Amino acid sequence: MASDKVSIHGAWASRWVFILAATGSAVGLGNIWKFPYMTGMYGGGAFVMMYLVCIFLVGLPIMLAETLIGRRGRQSPVNTLKTLAIESGASPKWSWAALMGMIAALLILSFYSVVAGWSLDYILGMGRGQFSGVTADGAGAAFGALTADPWRLTLWHTLFMLLTGFVIARGVVAGLERSLRIMMPLLFVLLLILLGYSMTTGYFMQGFHFLFDFQPDKLLDGVLAAMGHAFFTLSVGVGSIMVYGAYMPKNASIGGTILTVGILDTLVALTAGLALFPIVFAGGMEPGAGPGLMFVTLPVAFGNIAFGQIMGTVFFILVLIAAWTSSISMLEPAVAYLVERTRRSRVVVTSVLALLCWIVGMGTVLSFNIAAEAKFFVFADDGFHLFQWGAEGGRNFFDSIDYLTSRILLPLGGLAFAVFAGWVLKREAVRDELALKSPLLFGVVYWLIRVVAPIGVLIVFVAELMK
Ligand code: PHE
Repeated sequence: MASDKVSIHGAWASRWVFILAATGSAVGLGNIWKFPYMTGMYGGGAFVMMYLVCIFLVGLPIMLAETLIGRRGRQSPVNTLKTLAIESGASPKWSWAALMGMIAALLILSFYSVVAGWSLDYILGMGRGQFSGVTADGAGAAFGALTADPWRLTLWHTLFMLLTGFVIARGVVAGLERSLRIMMPLLFVLLLILLGYSMTTGYFMQGFHFLFDFQPDKLLDGVLAAMGHAFFTLSVGVGSIMVYGAYMPKNASIGGTILTVGILDTLVALTAGLALFPIVFAGGMEPGAGPGLMFVTLPVAFGNIAFGQIMGTVFFILVLIAAWTSSISMLEPAVAYLVERTRRSRVVVTSVLALLCWIVGMGTVLSFNIAAEAKFFVFADDGFHLFQWGAEGGRNFFDSIDYLTSRILLPLGGLAFAVFAGWVLKREAVRDELALKSPLLFGVVYWLIRVVAPIGVLIVFVAELMK
């Protein structure tokens, strides 16, 4: 039998609410903003190919592992790992993996909030008709003006952090349920409309080839990035999915649920790519433009189609909602943990953590303007510098946090969770939680969790080191 424990934080009404919550967590800026710009930076098809391989062979098995660990433990990730490790006769130090994930999630939230804040600015700009008839150059200049202004960025960053804290403090994922049921399908519809527009640009096939052409020579260029992004987009490796799993009803089947979430997430990313790249090419823009890509291409599209002003406004509202349903899942593991540990109210715990993330997020705000020259992790001719002002190469604050989380902490966290589910938990426990009818299917899934996913993560790490 699956575990009978119940979480003190509450439980989902059904497995559908888990799907909604997990999809809400997975589908976010990662799909609409990050995936297209990373694909652009790493040259297209080869990156997409590695991304898909990483999703299905590594990401999904780890998502499965996280969900089953969470549902068996029914506590915050840190305490879940501690309890289950002790039950299985292993070291309680396993909880450190969850602690690391929890910190990684908070670090992600710090920059996520800044970027989600951009969409707030764009809701306003679109609504006011600022982008009517805009050219690619004009949209680029508008984005440049936004990021150059620390005050405007701070305002939106603050607002978004408040929105995130607000939902978590109320502790009602169910409060979100109703809006999610409307917003997630709407997001899909709007993406399809955008896709329709990109087909009229005359550059659709160029975009298609850019995304899907196989380029064997480039396969290794972005593999670590692809792996990191697979983790990021599925929200795995940090405990977000684990904590949601803790609130899952005990008789719900995990396997089909996770597959649904994974497929939806992948479809949104691919559709976003197919919608954006033709517009990029039509506007003579650079696919490798980096983080601003979506914020420059979308206004061009919406500024030049019928009803673009309304649709554009609605679209950025949806980007905001997609980001919002993801950001709450970054805060939840830490909030659940501190509530369990300190027995203080969610409101207090949430306020403290959100403030902390806000402060770290200010580093990202400034890295787009005043502190753009503050570089971390600099590998220069005269050796390695942790920090150097104005160094060639090196990463600014935003890039550093993004790199540290996506490329290092998430894969390591995911590796730990897979090994925990595969090697520390008893086989029977995993079998009970997964409750797959076919023994063969269980064998395959268990092997993916135990062997394929961990080796996949390790190979990519080694490949990166040898480069
Ligand atoms: N999956 C989210 C996205 O694609 C980001 C995320 C990462 C959410 C880690 C929770 C935890 O935008």
